[in-house]
Amino acid sequence: MKSLLAQSCFAERRARLMAQMTPKSIAIIPSAQLQPRNRDVDYAFRQDSDFYYLSGFDEPNAVLVLVPGRAAGEYVVFCQDRDLEMEIWHGYRAGPEGLKQDYGADQAHPIDLIDDEMPKLLDGCERIYYAIGGDEQLDTQVRGWLNAIRAQARQGAVPPTEMVMLDHLLHEMRLFKSDEEAELMRQAGEISAQAHVRAMQVCKPGMTEYQLEAEITHHFAMNRCRQAAYPSIVGGGDNACVLHYTENSEELQDGDLVLIDAGCELDYYAGDITRTFPVNGRFSDEQKALYELVLKAQEACIELVRPGTPWADVHDRSVEIITEGLVELGLLQGDLEDLIERGAYREFYMHRIGHWLGMDVHDVGDYKVGGDWRPLEPGMVMTVEPGIYVSPFNEKVDARWRGIGIRIEDDVLVTEQGNEILSAVVPKQVDEIEALMRAAQNG
Ligand code: GLY
Ligand code: MN
Ligand code: MN
Repeated sequence: MKSLLAQSCFAERRARLMAQMTPKSIAIIPSAQLQPRNRDVDYAFRQDSDFYYLSGFDEPNAVLVLVPGRAAGEYVVFCQDRDLEMEIWHGYRAGPEGLKQDYGADQAHPIDLIDDEMPKLLDGCERIYYAIGGDEQLDTQVRGWLNAIRAQARQGAVPPTEMVMLDHLLHEMRLFKSDEEAELMRQAGEISAQAHVRAMQVCKPGMTEYQLEAEITHHFAMNRCRQAAYPSIVGGGDNACVLHYTENSEELQDGDLVLIDAGCELDYYAGDITRTFPVNGRFSDEQKALYELVLKAQEACIELVRPGTPWADVHDRSVEIITEGLVELGLLQGDLEDLIERGAYREFYMHRIGHWLGMDVHDVGDYKVGGDWRPLEPGMVMTVEPGIYVSPFNEKVDARWRGIGIRIEDDVLVTEQGNEILSAVVPKQVDEIEALMRAAQNG
């Protein structure tokens, strides 16, 4: 599918990356490969995020090469050649001509010629930007190309002397979203949020977790998002306490909460939203008490999302509020500072407050710079997702709390003024959720 972004966005990214590369250097970025699922069937193809970020091209078996300043062309792509027989079975291909015409490549070659062409491109380059270890087959090929140049040294060929991981430059670029990217993420947030609204509206006791998941993925697919950004988590009752629960196989029970963590992928940009709500539409006292505590922490943390806040401060705030609340409710006993110091909250809140969000759901970008937690800056997008999970087997707490799992997760863009919540369309206040579900039940 063609990207919603204009080709000029991809060209601008390539130019920006090349401007940061040293003179006489080359970058090599491989596409993703098809992965077998079972006999004669592959998993749905998903392009590598780095490759797509620079090309907008979504076929496997391709390698993208950037050679800043090269007179014959700076942007070279190796791709699957046109093959009418193969295309009848497996789908149309752009081919080298298509890469030049529609994707801005200066030069494009059939992938079968890569071992002939790459030594020529590498000859005379001093530094190679390449993420070694990501693609074993390509690692071997790169070694072969270097050996081919070394073998030609007496004929005047000059092999590169330095190999540098490309990730750092590229991932720093990906961490800061352009206006066009922010707009796509706004749409991904809205589609994901509407799917959660739909789940609240249709949920009732006796439905299964997979049926609720189907409502969500239906909404994604009807809005151009054939893939979710990650496997949806739909956990009723005790299952909400399993952080990566994806079986989604059980019946939803009257009186339980259901935790849904699901987000769509719109044109390679992820939404990542969690809501937790009562299967029957009404929170019990215990559910409400813990829910209000998670919500208090989440809202206070979102408040901190603004330029200048060190990344770790957001997490630390959630720890303070959750620990304090757990003491008030009697789930933890002791001195607040001491409990925080020894991490007593981890029995109930065992993950961090969030992560960068972008083309990958756990997106790229460093969290520390020069040994310190980095301050938030405009253009970054992060999730804010505190939770409390009381194991059904936790005999240290009163039985009425056991088996309650709650997470509330929103997607937040850092702006010049503060922040923008990209997933705000789905309610999270107790009375709003109950009203939405009541209206649907009565409607
Ligand atoms: N859905 C994965 C996460 O929330 O990090
Ligand atoms: Mn999530
Ligand atoms: Mn998340």
